[in-house]
Amino acid sequence: MGKLLIINGSPRAPKSNSKQYVALFQKYWNGESSKVNITPKNHTEICEDMAHYTDVLLVFPLYVDSIPVTLHNFLKTLEQHPPKQKPRISMVVNCGFLEPEQNQIAVEMIKLFCKQQGYPFLSVLCIGGGEAILNTPFRFLVKRKIKQLVKSVASHQSLSFQVTMPISKETYLKASTKYWIRYGAKNGVTKEQMDTMEIETN
Ligand SMILES: Cc1cc2nc3c(=O)[nH]c(=O)nc-3n(C[C@H](O)[C@H](O)[C@H](O)COP(=O)(O)O)c2cc1C
Repeated sequence: MGKLLIINGSPRAPKSNSKQYVALFQKYWNGESSKVNITPKNHTEICEDMAHYTDVLLVFPLYVDSIPVTLHNFLKTLEQHPPKQKPRISMVVNCGFLEPEQNQIAVEMIKLFCKQQGYPFLSVLCIGGGEAILNTPFRFLVKRKIKQLVKSVASHQSLSFQVTMPISKETYLKASTKYWIRYGAKNGVTKEQMDTMEIETN
């Protein structure tokens, strides 16, 4: 089992869903591992640190069908400051929509980065309904997939996994709409306000 660095690329890393996926991965990883959140100030530090690891696991959310800007900015620095030894790269991407395939564009972006920059790409887990699934009875499905991902990273076997909740899109839409209306109400925001662009400026 190699030495693993887990990089959380969520813009809200300390309170993120990605943080929970990082914790689950670390729970099942038997080897040595460290974790770090990307911040605007630690890019070069992470780049240098990467040379000491055989494997890197990027854990991040899908933002607007793409990788979040936090990760994008970090990759730009990494391009300028590559580590002396390039580790293998794997990733866990989670998105809000039910379909894990939504993450595919972000996956291709990271794969392309790895190809162009000379990092061996290993394995990926795409999670659909990533905001919700850990708080449902389907949590066990995520745990199972993360265990499989851990195995593939540990054995250097390049594999692709995906997981979501086995419910219909209609059920998911109904449940998530109800959730967000309640969430808004708790914060003094109505559904009508959420339906407008003004929500961005408040
Ligand atoms: C600005 C923004 C853009 C998002 N764009 C998408 C998207 O295009 N597709 C999707 O399925 N989920 C999208 N989401 C949902 C996130 O991927 C989801 O909430 C995820 O669990 C956040 O993970 P994190 O807590 O680790 O940051 C978006 C969320 C935000 C805040």
